Amino acid sequence: VRDKPLKGKKVLITAGPTRETLDPVRYITNRSSGKMGYSLAKQAYLLGAEVTLISGPTTLRPFPGVKRINIESAREMHDIVLKTYENQDIVIKAAAVADYRPKNSAEHKIKKQPGEMVLELERNPDILAELGQNKGSRILIGFAAETNNVLAYAAEKAKRKNLDFIVANDLTQPGAGFGVDTNIISLVFPDGQIKSFPQMDKEEAAREILLVAAKHLNKTKE
Ligand code: PMT
Repeated sequence: VRDKPLKGKKVLITAGPTRETLDPVRYITNRSSGKMGYSLAKQAYLLGAEVTLISGPTTLRPFPGVKRINIESAREMHDIVLKTYENQDIVIKAAAVADYRPKNSAEHKIKKQPGEMVLELERNPDILAELGQNKGSRILIGFAAETNNVLAYAAEKAKRKNLDFIVANDLTQPGAGFGVDTNIISLVFPDGQIKSFPQMDKEEAAREILLVAAKHLNKTKE
């Protein structure tokens, strides 16, 4: 059990960006490569867990043994996550989910027109907040990608979304956040406690996050 603290546990990870369709050839997305979420899935598997990875479009391959479900839009991610959530022990939302989607997704390619074009957007569901409202004894972990007031925003999100903790990454630091192989993370707890780590490979960062999650799981199950 010491080297496999997640043996017999079910872990759900979300990873990558979402794609919000504008028309058959265009979409809105973000800079997430999926590396952080795929590292979490691999490390959770190596720590003994049964892992489901719900992934937006990436070029990555899941670690053998990890069950992957591919989605494109935030609404697709929402539906699958809610369906899969019920019997999980730990849920980690590393995906960068679009907060907005185009109000109208055109059936045919949108044609150029004279002058400016205004794009109307509407809100996507906040998946993490919904999970927080139905948390039960699960360990629920979010990510916060910020460019300013990183720790203050993260603590506020952890509290508001009813999380065990949130992983803050400061997007202004070169070795952290989107696309790169490393991250600089702080675990921010709803009571304001903070556990900060130096720059690490995303695989190492993933392992640290999972070890803290495993400790919390044992505490809540006692
Ligand atoms: O994929 P990589 O290139 O490796 O980059 C990793 C990462 C920077 C994407 C990752 O470390 C990260 O920070 N992911 C969360 C990015 C993000 O969308 O943060 P946010 O502050 O917008 O969202 C906060 C949390 O709510 C996240 O856990 C997110 O999954 C969740 N969320 C957000 C919006 C929404 N509609 N539903 C959600 O569940």
